[in-house]
Amino acid sequence: MTVRERVQVGIVGAGPAGLLLSHLLALGGVDSVVVESRSRAYCEARQRAGMLESTTVELLREVGLGKRLDSEGLEHDGIYLQFAGARHHMNFRELTDGRWVTIYAQTEIVKDAIAARVADGAALEFEVSGTEVTDLDSDQPVLRYTDASGERHEVTCDAIAGCDGFHGVCRPAIPGGGLRTVTERIYPYGWLGILAQAPPSTDQVLYCRHENGFALHSMRTPQISRLYLQVPADEDIAEWPDDRIWDELNTRLAVPGWELATGPVLEKSITPMRSFVAAPMRYRRLFLAGDAAHIVPPTGAKGLNLAVADVAALATALIRLLRDGEPEHAAAYSEHCLERVWRATHLACWMTTMLHVDPAGDPFEAHLQLAQLRNLVTSRAAATMLAENYTGYAPLGYDPDTRLAPSSLCGSVA
Ligand code: DHB
Repeated sequence: MTVRERVQVGIVGAGPAGLLLSHLLALGGVDSVVVESRSRAYCEARQRAGMLESTTVELLREVGLGKRLDSEGLEHDGIYLQFAGARHHMNFRELTDGRWVTIYAQTEIVKDAIAARVADGAALEFEVSGTEVTDLDSDQPVLRYTDASGERHEVTCDAIAGCDGFHGVCRPAIPGGGLRTVTERIYPYGWLGILAQAPPSTDQVLYCRHENGFALHSMRTPQISRLYLQVPADEDIAEWPDDRIWDELNTRLAVPGWELATGPVLEKSITPMRSFVAAPMRYRRLFLAGDAAHIVPPTGAKGLNLAVADVAALATALIRLLRDGEPEHAAAYSEHCLERVWRATHLACWMTTMLHVDPAGDPFEAHLQLAQLRNLVTSRAAATMLAENYTGYAPLGYDPDTRLAPSSLCGSVA
């Protein structure tokens, strides 16, 4: 038997985008159901990036999700950039008039958001199967799924939010021609990431270009480090026993007088690197948010921050549409988000190609990379450009009127 229901917004995916959207909609008086194929335990444990723009932190505080973030997050003034054997500090707070970054793992945001939704009595369905979105050409799209107890549900919605990641069902459900452009770049390397029981050997996140490849030293807590190494895109993780990982991190990150603390490796995995943008991010009453619409390579940690920006805009758009009967923000949703998406896509692509060693070994590329890195640590204008883009853009504000920049600083020429 199928249970037939009505909900204002059907949300597919209980990652940070889907959970935060459901939270924001509830604050605006719009009801939703979140369906997720994985278990709650899986969602709360999966390791992702952990670097938050100050704009993301401010939004989470503003909507009541900042309590643990404020007590456990590690607030940093900036980052270190290392190349040619020397380490340089970039003070973003000083370069941007007060903006910063905070280390707080994505999985912690997911835990906080689930706890808040559960405390609110929200409809949150884990371990669902057979999820489908249909009737997308109508104003009443339908979400179907089978819940964990085996009961089939058919939910008639006023809107559906596809927050189900790159491999989710929502984007492919858009009828032919609905996505006008899909742009993609595959990078010829991947990241081997580890979580280690070792106190961080750096007080701020360290990005390093070395002849052997990129390395990144980040952290999760004062006792847990998070580190990454550039490896070939198709690398087999079996090639990397823990000793080899620590040796290579030691080689790439070395500077005179500095030591890398090591410890048991708690988790390791290899992530491929791609850029991907699908546009528009809306088909009638189906809205895509986060990785369902765009992927950035991890350098610069923009993925989660973009997902938060998307749903801040989407919540406003849906509240205006469904509560107030005003369609303007929903109509502008895709264009509004894509401006930020492309800014972040540029930052991530630029940082990636500047810091990773090209497997083709082109010496011209290597010289360009070093020239850019020297420019960043010697020119205040260049450093400010990185600082502004890294720490976030215009405030995300849970309101409909945020734009990246109201108008061109340089004026326009007819
Ligand atoms: C982290 C990940 C990133 O991709 C990055 O650029 C900085 C930090 C992290 O996992 O902490």
